[in-house]
Amino acid sequence: MTSRPRRRALTAAAALALALGITATSQASGAVPTEDTATAAAVQADNPYEGAKPYVNPDWSARAAAEPGGSAIADQPTFVWMDRIAAIEGSASARGLRAHLDTALEQGADLVQIVIYDLPGRDCAALASNGELGPTEIDRYENEYIDPIAEIYQDPKYASLKIVNIVEPDSLPNIVTNADQQPGATEACRVMKANGNYEKGVGYALHTLGAIPNVYNYLDAGHHGWLGWDSNLGPSVDEFKKAATTSGATVADVDGFAVNTANYSALTEPHFKVTDTVNGTTVRQSKWVDWNQYVDEESYGQALRALAVSRGFAADIGILIDTGRNGWGGADRPAGPGPTTSVDDYVNGGRIDRRIHPGNWCNQSGAGLGERPAAAPAAGIDAYVWAKPPGESDGSSKPIDNDEGKGFDEMCDPAYQGNPRNGNNPSGALGDSPLAGHWFSAQFQQLLQNAYPPVS
Ligand code: BGC
Repeated sequence: MTSRPRRRALTAAAALALALGITATSQASGAVPTEDTATAAAVQADNPYEGAKPYVNPDWSARAAAEPGGSAIADQPTFVWMDRIAAIEGSASARGLRAHLDTALEQGADLVQIVIYDLPGRDCAALASNGELGPTEIDRYENEYIDPIAEIYQDPKYASLKIVNIVEPDSLPNIVTNADQQPGATEACRVMKANGNYEKGVGYALHTLGAIPNVYNYLDAGHHGWLGWDSNLGPSVDEFKKAATTSGATVADVDGFAVNTANYSALTEPHFKVTDTVNGTTVRQSKWVDWNQYVDEESYGQALRALAVSRGFAADIGILIDTGRNGWGGADRPAGPGPTTSVDDYVNGGRIDRRIHPGNWCNQSGAGLGERPAAAPAAGIDAYVWAKPPGESDGSSKPIDNDEGKGFDEMCDPAYQGNPRNGNNPSGALGDSPLAGHWFSAQFQQLLQNAYPPVS
């Protein structure tokens, strides 16, 4: 496959302005469009979401609309997860990739959102979404998964669709934090680090899909409660760059990063800032923040973006934030800051993220829908998206036999008391949950009830 001119050439001033998240109007004076830049701009938009009409997945939509009150949000665009080779073809009960793209055309949509999610040895630090491919099956990943997806994407029939990919949630973050001697490290992640198949697979996906002019790749970058510490963020960006320069990929195949995919971290914490102090003690020392440099996804995403640009990613990359389940509204949402009796009282009393611990990730009790999907909501942010379709389970609360390669992760059992990755805290998961990806009506109901902004 040939590579294409992906980006407008930027003047140094425009590049700097973009790196700092300054909007187009304030940098317009420095940018002199040339013939070359005009052609490239016609090929690829800087932010594919700007002015776009995203595809609404009718399958998710029907499930949402069948729930009491669900029709209020059933017209929202959600990502479609290609979570196994068979998902490409589809089945009698599940629409395949072509069928989704065809339906998008019928809807008059011009943007389709897909999660690329089938790496060898998938989900190495958890069990709920272990995949179908074993740790060494990189050839099958490339030939039976990525290549067929690329073939469909390239069909001229779909040239009018901007196709946005979130590439391989959780994979590279796991290589950074769970594959060495850290307390939460797992043998499965050590194997994937040693064999390099996460980097090879991600690089192959970026390169192969990135060569198609109407495709936009956003590499998954965890969330602030995972990679926000400086000691994780720098190594993460290095790891992203390593994967983005493997298997023929270049940094130009990366249009941005996706944060908070399928997670629950707040978009913004309105009642405390990382720079606040209480009686001389910084909130970074609170138990909840635990020395993290970030307390929410918007600040994390913007910082990640600036760091990635400074380490060689394109100056016009953007961030997607999954806001499907990070609203944290409802009766328990704090109305103002916590008391200043101690730094923990202040943070715990004011934080809207009501999880027991920021490392909890499975079907969180008390969560609500977050911001509705929106284009270009803030500097450097390409879109708020619903990557994890609200109402789809993160994992089963007890073992369930299945042929999807899904394991049972105790983090989905409400009785589980935790492990080093969540500070040995209770899981905070809802009970009676089905397998990952299956419809979980009780969770959907809670998300609707605790939506913030509320659903009217
Ligand atoms: C599951 C996938 C599912 C996706 C979206 C993942 O956790 O492993 O099978 O498609 O969530 O719900």
